[in-house]
Amino acid sequence: MKPEDFKFICDLVKVRSGLTLSDDKGYLLESRLMPLARRHDLGGLEGLANELRIKKDEKLIVEVTEAMTTNESFFFRDKKPFDLFRDSILPEFIKNRAAKKQFRLWCAAASSGQEPYSLAMIIRESAARLAGWKVEIVGTDISNDILEKARNGVYSQFEVQRGLPIQLLMKNFDKHEDMWRIKPDLRSMIEYKFFNLLENLAPLGTFDVVFCRNVLIYFDQETKGKVMAQIASLMPKDGLLFLGGAETVLGITDKFKPVKGFRGVYCLTGGSTSFGES
Ligand SMILES: C[S@@+](CC[C@H](N)C(=O)[O-])C[C@H]1O[C@@H](n2cnc3c(N)ncnc32)[C@H](O)[C@@H]1O
Repeated sequence: MKPEDFKFICDLVKVRSGLTLSDDKGYLLESRLMPLARRHDLGGLEGLANELRIKKDEKLIVEVTEAMTTNESFFFRDKKPFDLFRDSILPEFIKNRAAKKQFRLWCAAASSGQEPYSLAMIIRESAARLAGWKVEIVGTDISNDILEKARNGVYSQFEVQRGLPIQLLMKNFDKHEDMWRIKPDLRSMIEYKFFNLLENLAPLGTFDVVFCRNVLIYFDQETKGKVMAQIASLMPKDGLLFLGGAETVLGITDKFKPVKGFRGVYCLTGGSTSFGES
C-alpha cells in the first residue's frame, strides 16, 4: 500500500472516529478494509483510497470508519468494575437519590451490548430496592452495525460463556436454536443510540455514572482529554466515570481524579462523592 494512501485513509478515520493508527498499523488497515474494497469492486486499498478521494461518498466513508472500529466486548468485562458498581456504588446512589428516585447510566462505547446488559442485570437483581425508581441505561456507539447487534441482544454460546455467570444466563436469556437471546424485559431497559464521542455530547443529557471503557485507548491524548472534559460536563457533582483497565485520566485531564481503592473509577475534581478520593 502506498504511504500516501495509508495516510489519507488514516486521516479520514481519525477525523471521523478519533481512531489513531500508527505507521506500523498497515496490516490492520489491510485486514479490515480489503474485504470492503473487494465488495465494492475497487480492487484493493489503492482503489479504495482513490474512490474516497474523488467521490467523497458519505456511505462509503461511514463503512470504512465502521470497519476500522474494534468491537471486542464481553459480559461483566474485567469483573471487578461491575462488582464495585453492584456492591458499593449502586447502594450509595440508592441512598443519595432516595428523594428523587432516579438516576441515569451511560455506556459511551456500548459495542454489541454486553456492557449495558451487564449493568441492566445488576439493576434487575436490585429490583426490590429500586421499586418505584426510574433507572435509565443509555448505550451509544459510532457503529450502526454493532448497535443493531446490541438491540437484537442475540449472542453465541462462546459470547455468553465469557464472563456471564450461569445463573444470570438462565434467568435473563432464552435459548434460540444455537444462540441465546436476551429476554425482552431486560432488552427494554436499555436505549441504544448512534452517537459519536467526538461530537457535542450535551444532547444526551446528564448522567450519574458513565462507563467509557476500552474506547479512549484508541484516541490520541488531545482527543482523550476533550472527550473526558465533555463527559465531566454531563455529570452531577457526585458523578462517577469508569474507564477500561488500560485507560486513565492521569496526565490527560484534571477534570477527574481516581477514587481511592476503586481501580478504574474516577470522580470529578472538586466534586462531592462520598467515596474515598486519592
Ligand atoms: C472495544 S469496544 C468497547 C466495548 C465496551 N465498552 C467494553 O469495554 O467491552 C470499543 C467501541 O467503541 C466504539 N467507538 C469507537 N470510536 C467511537 C467514537 N468516536 N464514538 C463512539 N463510539 C466509538 C466502537 O465502535 C466499539 O464498538
